[in-house]
Amino acid sequence: MSPLPQQLLPMTAKLVGGRLEIGGCDVLDLAERHGTPVFVYDEVHLRERAREAVAAFGDGATYASKAFLCRAMARLVAEEGMGIDVATGGELHVALSAGVAPARITLHGNNKSEAELGMALAAGVGRIVIDSFEEVARIERVVAQHGVGRPKVLVRVTPGVEAHTHEYVMTGQDDSKFGFGLTSGAAAEALDRVGSSDAMELVGVHAHIGSNIFVLSGFEKAVEKLAPFVVPLGLPELCLGGGLGVAYVEGEEAPTIAEWAGVLHRACTAAGITSKIKVEPGRSIVAGAAVTLYRVGTIKELPGIRTYVSVDGGMSDNPRPVLYGSGYEAFLARATEADRPLVATIVGKHCESGDVLVRDAHLPADLAVGDILATPVTGAYGHSMASNYNKVPRPPVVFVRDGEDKVVVRRETFDDLLALDAE
Ligand code: LLP
Repeated sequence: MSPLPQQLLPMTAKLVGGRLEIGGCDVLDLAERHGTPVFVYDEVHLRERAREAVAAFGDGATYASKAFLCRAMARLVAEEGMGIDVATGGELHVALSAGVAPARITLHGNNKSEAELGMALAAGVGRIVIDSFEEVARIERVVAQHGVGRPKVLVRVTPGVEAHTHEYVMTGQDDSKFGFGLTSGAAAEALDRVGSSDAMELVGVHAHIGSNIFVLSGFEKAVEKLAPFVVPLGLPELCLGGGLGVAYVEGEEAPTIAEWAGVLHRACTAAGITSKIKVEPGRSIVAGAAVTLYRVGTIKELPGIRTYVSVDGGMSDNPRPVLYGSGYEAFLARATEADRPLVATIVGKHCESGDVLVRDAHLPADLAVGDILATPVTGAYGHSMASNYNKVPRPPVVFVRDGEDKVVVRRETFDDLLALDAE
């Protein structure tokens, strides 16, 4: 197997004497100093993607923080001019504590509690995306009880399209827990209900059809379905959600944010939609910016079966292979350009056989215990979905730029694992 395709590495990745540098920092040195596993994010890459989104959508570009959130990330996207989409009180808390202007925050969620709505309204978030009839009544109660101003709201609609992606991350089809169905008439009813409420100001419609989508025609189809509904309303905003896919493995190719924007804008113009177009990309901003570094602990060759390479992380820092069967590549940081003839299964340190990070990974033949193994394109939905399974402390997050590394989330300690025990 050929060496790792360079386009899977963060933007500033460079080979210096066969060793990998990201953001001007030697990756083996980062592993030495910060320990493993560690998430290394290329700050220039993150900023470039955010800028690309802002260039295409102006202040309608909103970062979906579920993909990866910590205060440094919230500040970074805010500095680059993106708004932030939060889907829970917890994400809202992090964004507010990072100092993000509340007006630039959009609150999502299919089951927002009254407490979460109260918190958002008290803070003065810019938009709330309404997902159920219960939520309309909850907002009315909170506005009346707390005497807060009328929030600007969008109504989330499921347009009845099936995006080409994993079933678990499809959200635009009729059978969905999200939003109000267009086909069933629930969307029209919700628009009436929200439009006639004195407690909120209806500013637009929202539709998110799914995640990790490579085929842009799904977005065009969604716009076509939405247009007859949206155009007569004449509302100022239409948010088309996130969902742009990224390449994870050799041979995959994903459209750029600019290409996605072109398709969305052309589809809206063709359909006569004049509302301001907003989007909420998550994965396409952060996925490619990071690599995860692990240390190889054991190598077991089972003759005639397979070779298992165990690393010091696993499904607790990257549950995507287990959840969705997602594929990743792997490479040795000391030999990024080496051929990869060895086929092995990279597994974690958790107590179950399903704890696989890369099935049939291609690796250099001289792979040895103690080597630093890296998986690229781990910037999205890895750290954010990390767990403490088997009481494994979650890895730190290090931002690198111009030869400097900065710990933006420290490694969890064993004592952190006790912090919530009440006795
Ligand atoms: N907006 C809404 C309303 C969403 O539900 C999502 C993702 C996004 C925006 C951002 O989508 P993105 O641009 O990141 O595709 N854990 C899964 C992905 C779940 C996505 C959930 N919603 C994964 O690891 O693939």
